[in-house]
Amino acid sequence: MHQYQKNNIKVHFGLFEMKDLDNLILFLENLSTESKKRFGPHPFTKETILELFNLDDYLLFTAKTQAEKTIIAYTVVKKGWLDFEHQRLNSYGLNMRPGDFTIAPSVADNWQGMGIGSTFLEYVIHFLSKNLQMKRLILWGGVQRDNERAVRLYQKQGFRVLGHFEYHGLNTDMIFEME
Ligand SMILES: CC(C)(COP(=O)(O)OP(=O)(O)OC[C@H]1O[C@@H](n2cnc3c(N)ncnc32)[C@H](O)[C@@H]1OP(=O)(O)O)[C@@H](O)C(=O)NCCC(=O)NCCS
Repeated sequence: MHQYQKNNIKVHFGLFEMKDLDNLILFLENLSTESKKRFGPHPFTKETILELFNLDDYLLFTAKTQAEKTIIAYTVVKKGWLDFEHQRLNSYGLNMRPGDFTIAPSVADNWQGMGIGSTFLEYVIHFLSKNLQMKRLILWGGVQRDNERAVRLYQKQGFRVLGHFEYHGLNTDMIFEME
């Protein structure tokens, strides 16, 4: 569960550790323009990572190759909802409650489409439900409607569509609810 293994490649999932700060910045900076258009929950600076790391309501997760310890995927999670999303989420008849979390995942370009994002998402959901009593998971800023791989990833995991909104194109809000 904490590991992805395929074709002799082993990837380890876990909470971000401060010793990997430079490694994480490198991962973020190296994302392609295309991936950065899809994933940009916060500025990709050391200051931001340090700040989020020290805030109680944020959790940072990484996926590292076992061989080189390179970060190849990163997920940021916020307890509750982001301030600017309340109004939109409320418009679907949703009200924030304990057990709500918000998620934004990313996988390095060279590693996309290999199943790593799926295994990573399963790991994070398992971690949050087991350790932090997560009941519902919301997408950070929704998902761009033309981001087919991400939409497929969320559907496969059991997320359902809440609604759509316009922001630099069409976006979809989705939610995952524990049974
Ligand atoms: C979205 C993202 C996290 C998914 O991770 P990933 O490791 O690439 O995804 P996976 O390989 O696990 O694939 C997920 C599903 O999408 C499918 N898929 C892969 N490429 C696809 C494509 N071009 N179109 C549609 N579906 C696709 C996969 O087949 C898989 O479904 P399956 O298991 O039923 O076959 C990753 O691609 C990424 O970081 N993209 C850029 C940033 C981003 O979009 N973040 C999300 C913002 S909401």
